[in-house]
This record gives sequence, C-alpha cells and structure tokens, in this order.
Amino acid sequence: MILITGANGFVGYYLTEALLEKGFTVLATSKGDCRLPFSYSSFFIYEQMDFTDPFAVHDIFEKYKPSIVIHAGAMSKPDECEINQWECYVTNVEATLTLLANAEELKSFFVFISTDFVFDGEKGMYSENDMVNPVNFYGQSKADAEDAVKEYKYDWAIVRTCSVYGKPATGKQNILTVVKSKIENREKYMVFDDQVRTPTYVEDFVKGIVGLIGKRATGVYHLAGTDVLTPYEMAIKTAEYIGLDTSYIQRVTWVDLKQPAKRPPKTGLVIGKAKKELGFDPISFEEGLKNVFE
Ligand SMILES: NC(=O)c1ccc[n+]([C@@H]2O[C@H](COP(=O)([O-])OP(=O)(O)OC[C@H]3O[C@@H](n4cnc5c(N)ncnc54)[C@H](OP(=O)(O)O)[C@@H]3O)[C@@H](O)[C@H]2O)c1
Repeated sequence: MILITGANGFVGYYLTEALLEKGFTVLATSKGDCRLPFSYSSFFIYEQMDFTDPFAVHDIFEKYKPSIVIHAGAMSKPDECEINQWECYVTNVEATLTLLANAEELKSFFVFISTDFVFDGEKGMYSENDMVNPVNFYGQSKADAEDAVKEYKYDWAIVRTCSVYGKPATGKQNILTVVKSKIENREKYMVFDDQVRTPTYVEDFVKGIVGLIGKRATGVYHLAGTDVLTPYEMAIKTAEYIGLDTSYIQRVTWVDLKQPAKRPPKTGLVIGKAKKELGFDPISFEEGLKNVFE
C-alpha cells in the first residue's frame, strides 16, 4: 500500500490517479475533506490526516502499515511561507520528521517531493549534486526537510521538480490557467521576466515518480521539463496558443512586484540522471500547452 500525503493538492491528484492506473492500492491522505473523484476504485482509500498532528499520523500508520510513503503535501506558496514562517516550519519540516519516524517503524520506502527553490538561482540548470542554498523561507524549509530525509535509515528518494503546470483538477491554479482567466476577464497580468525555470508538465512529473517507485530508485532525482523559459515567456506562449491578446501580459522584475519572498533568479533542473536511470522522457512546453487546452 502506498500512502500519499497532500493527495488533494495539484500534484497529489495526478499522483493518486497514476498509481491507481498502475494497480497500486493508494491510501490518499490530506488535511481537508476528500476532493478526489476516485472512490469508484476498490484500490482507493481516503483518510483525512493533518500531518502536523503526530497522534493522527501515528493512528493512520498503525492502521494501514503503508510500505511506501510519498510525501507530497506541503505549505507550497513561497509568499505564505515567508509571512507565516512558524506555520511553514511546522508544516514542511516538523511534519516531515513525524512522517519519517512513523515510516521508519515500518521500514517503508520514503519518497519526498522537493523543489528547485532549494537552490539560490545564481548558476542555473542545477544537477542533483549541486549545493543547496535557499533564498527564501519556503526553500529553506524544503532544504531542512531534505536533510531529515537523508538521515532516514531505510530506502529513501528525494524528487525535485520545477514550476509544475497542467489542468488544476483539485489543487491550486498554475501560470497557464491564471493567464487564461486573467486575460478573459480583461485584467492585466504582471509576470516575471527576470527568472528562469524548466516548467514541468504534471503528468510527466507523476510518471517519473511512478517509474522511480517501480525501480525502487533511491537518492536524489530531478524531474522537470526540458524547455528553459521565464514565467513571462510561458505566459506569452500560453496566450498565443489559446489565441488571447498578449498585451494584457506585463513584463516585470521581482523588484517591481515586491513579493514577500525573494525568488531564486535562475533555476532549471538538469534531468540527465532521471532520463538515464528511470527512462524519464518529458514532453515539450508546446505539447504541454496542447494537453492542457485541448
Ligand atoms: N506546483 C509546483 O510548481 C511545485 C514545484 C516544485 C515543488 N513542488 C512541491 O510539490 C509538492 C506538491 O505541490 P502542489 O503544487 O501539489 O501543492 P498544493 O496544490 O498546494 O497541495 C499541497 C497539499 O498539501 C496538503 N497539506 C497542506 N498542509 C497539510 C497538513 N498540515 N496536513 C495534511 N495535508 C496538508 C493540502 O491538503 P488540503 O488541500 O487537503 O488542505 C494541499 O492539497 C509540494 O511538496 C511542493 O513543495 C511543487
């Protein structure tokens, strides 16, 4: 049985779906009521579990004894993390320790989902072995959680990804869907052009995780797309693809928007290791647009 945390989230939905399709029994857990449409499957179980509550986590682990744990849940918005640093620490770091302690009792395979925001964004195109040096509290919390995962006694994997996009089935919106709704509502959309990312199509990302689990691959893996784009370029390509007026999209820099959390300017992830070892083969951003809007 595979326990997923944050199953109600953007990635969690697709992860649950992909694992069910592969025939796994999935124990989907999240903080809120179930927002997943998979109860038709006898391999799908949902349990509400606030992973910041050690008693709730212990009860669930004792009841189901998952052999694999995928920790996808998090406080995932950098600005919220910057403003509410204590809540971010409890959610992203302390809860990971709680989950690791429970997984350790069962010797489960522990897979942690992390982010390109563990890097400072000075160099760009980061490999698995590059040094982490976060520039905001969200990145710091994920880097601290990574450190805890690396201390885990049994099999573990850390999967870092970057700017995940796709159809938001249950979770938060992403740049593509925000562009569409902003322009359709005739609102200006200010987007960074001083940051570089390798946007990742959500279904590729979860395919990569399923592949990793199939091979029981351990260690750190980067799973991201191949196109190197700024969020502004992503927004323009999106508007052009769906035939909307690109003049609503305004090019800005981090300084112009003054967001609470600093962003690493140039990230992007090198995916050679995942390609070679997991057969990871992501689609292009153009193909991703097609999948999202057709
Ligand atoms: N999306 C990206 O571009 C991106 C990029 C790099 C890395 N990541 C990482 O990928 C993972 C998934 O991201 P996402 O985009 O799917 O995030 P998301 O849509 O915000 O989903 C996160 C989920 O975590 C759950 N959660 C939060 N606090 C919880 C708690 N105390 N107890 C239990 N569940 C809790 C929430 O559940 P409820 O909805 O039930 O409240 C939420 O649905 C995260 O670890 C994130 O850091 C994402």
